[in-house]
Amino acid sequence: MSTDALIMAAGSGTRMEGALPKQYRHLGGKSVLARAVDALASHPSIDQVRVVIGKDQEEMARAALGERDVGEWIIGGDSRSQSVRNGLAAVRADRVLIHDAARPFCPLPVIDRLLSALDEHGAATPALASVDTLARRHGDRVGGTIDRDAIVRVQTPQAFRADLLRKAYAAHEGEPTDEAQVARAFGVDVALVEGDPMLEKLTTAEDFARAERMMAARTT
Ligand code: CTP
Ligand code: MG
Repeated sequence: MSTDALIMAAGSGTRMEGALPKQYRHLGGKSVLARAVDALASHPSIDQVRVVIGKDQEEMARAALGERDVGEWIIGGDSRSQSVRNGLAAVRADRVLIHDAARPFCPLPVIDRLLSALDEHGAATPALASVDTLARRHGDRVGGTIDRDAIVRVQTPQAFRADLLRKAYAAHEGEPTDEAQVARAFGVDVALVEGDPMLEKLTTAEDFARAERMMAARTT
């Protein structure tokens, strides 16, 4: 059984600001994208890592990845879901992991958990419980508290039987923000496995600064 990983790197990082889209920036001496690629490529069950980039991003992607073997670039679309559709069309493997380039640290045990859940259920996503109390908002006032046990924070990589995810996307309309909701809308039970705080997405400048401080603390 073959397994490919698709790294979604075709975004422009508007919430982060900065000269380069976040996935092409360096974080502790290595680009964010290279970290995401290396993390997945180092898992023994992943055969190939492919990268989906924006149509004008080839130069930045090459600079970010150096000599790493990621096959041919896959060109993404205007939305993340369109980028995933383009990526899926290029995948030939039986199993596929879809991952955000903006999540540069992926612990290998998360991939172990995903692949075993995938083989049992056909689809799996990592998620974390919420540690904060959750409440609805009524404008600038706090509303009722939401049962924390009913909520999870969903991360990537998400793992699927490739044929199943392709069919689910073909039936899906709109702009989903992840693949678990596409599979679920298609009637697939997506297994939850324990995620990891290291998988937090870099979205804002503050997230990036926090990741830089963490890298600096590691090397000193
Ligand atoms: N992504 C993509 N194609 C798009 C948009 C996003 O491949 N058209 C990727 C991003 O590169 C990122 C991941 O999807 O790795 C998660 O998206 P997000 O964090 O929203 O990144 P951006 O869309 O780049 O950032 P922003 O929404 O702030 O512009
Ligand atoms: Mg976005």
